Amino acid sequence: MWSPDALVREGRPTKPSSARVGIGDCGNVPPVNLQPSKRIAVIPGDGIGQEVIPQAVKVIQATGAAVHLTEFDWGADRYLRDGTTVPPDGFAMLARDFDAILVGAFGDPRVKTNIHAKEILLGMRFKMDLYANVRPVRLLDAALCPLKGVEPQHVDFVVLRENTEGVYTDAGGVFKQGTPDEIAIQEDINTRKGVERIIRYAFEYCRQHSKFDGSPRSKVLMCDKSNAMTHAGGLWQRAFKGVSAEYPKITAQHMYVDALCLQMVRDPRQFDVIVTNNMFGDIITDLAAGLQGGLGMAASANIHPGRTSMFEPVHGSAPPIAGKNVANPMGAILTAAMMLRHLGFTKEPDRIEAAVLEAVRQKKTTQDIGGPLGTREAGEWIASHVSA
Ligand code: NAD
Ligand code: IPM
Ligand code: MN
Repeated sequence: MWSPDALVREGRPTKPSSARVGIGDCGNVPPVNLQPSKRIAVIPGDGIGQEVIPQAVKVIQATGAAVHLTEFDWGADRYLRDGTTVPPDGFAMLARDFDAILVGAFGDPRVKTNIHAKEILLGMRFKMDLYANVRPVRLLDAALCPLKGVEPQHVDFVVLRENTEGVYTDAGGVFKQGTPDEIAIQEDINTRKGVERIIRYAFEYCRQHSKFDGSPRSKVLMCDKSNAMTHAGGLWQRAFKGVSAEYPKITAQHMYVDALCLQMVRDPRQFDVIVTNNMFGDIITDLAAGLQGGLGMAASANIHPGRTSMFEPVHGSAPPIAGKNVANPMGAILTAAMMLRHLGFTKEPDRIEAAVLEAVRQKKTTQDIGGPLGTREAGEWIASHVSA
């Protein structure tokens, strides 16, 4: 686990984790840095979340970034102990008291209903209105990609997943349950506001970000299934046409989600910025993680610009490998880098990303991507490289 002086358990104040804080500590010498530390809520959650998040925290601390970390025990253990998923006022507290939230994963075989994951994870996304799920897909080394002849420069795209609507709203119901006449309805909710804002986010993302080789991003592809799901698809098509017209310098493209899955494994180099709905975004980002070396490598952010946002690796709690010190911490560590960048740090995330790349190159990794290390040892290698 991380050092206790750098982290507080819920509700207990402690000193900031970094030396670079806005408090003078040298007698009469005025403080050099008056910027307050960034306040980060850390929720490791279940399964391998409890193993990879401590490594991400260790790496954050190794950068010396001015952050103040507070851990929360929300997850299956807490739920099974006292029935709490999210404490009263929990989301308001996160929005009020924190600049960002770092999350592991939720899902535990002992909680068959998955109610805690729904209330905590989807609760944060929905109730804090974190409408843009940003999932970068970047290949760090050719050896990690299962496709032949694919080099790092060929896989550098981002999926922007709508994060607050679609089939995830849980609108619907079950009728005549347990009878031969049982009916289950799961509504697909798409609002003009919700669709338009994620599409606009995608064009703005494209305008403001470059690829890792420094070349500008230039294409936004909207992925849907408008040939079969005509009502929702029609709204996405109309919104995409309207917003894309505001960005004449960006190439607007469209692909049906089934065709996109084929293209992703046939020729991933064609993708740049992909925008899609909640469910398609979930599915294609697991596929895309496969291009990067697996779920252990994939990072993500859940953003509402200007509000407290949440950062989590793409993977889940992976119960079969939990507690064995084998989970790959790189997805969580790269997620921490995304979070620090979002908070305005620049050198620190650069150093983290460079250290992860070096670990991949030197095979200082977990077994899922071919190295000999355990979760802790892989995290420690990256942390020591970051602080060197
Ligand atoms: P999963 O992502 O947990 O695991 C899928 C596969 O990837 C497994 O083979 C697993 O061993 C492997 N894997 C995942 N992360 C890895 C890592 N860091 N290193 C090495 N291998 C890794 O998905 P699942 O098995 O479908 O779901 C397990 C539980 O996690 C379920 O309860 C699910 O609902 C939950 N889940 C939660 C989140 C989240 O909280 N963000 C995301 C996905 C799944
Ligand atoms: C993800 C996960 C979640 C999702 C689950 C755990 C609800 O798969 O973050 O990708 O479907 O969004
Ligand atoms: Mn998923």
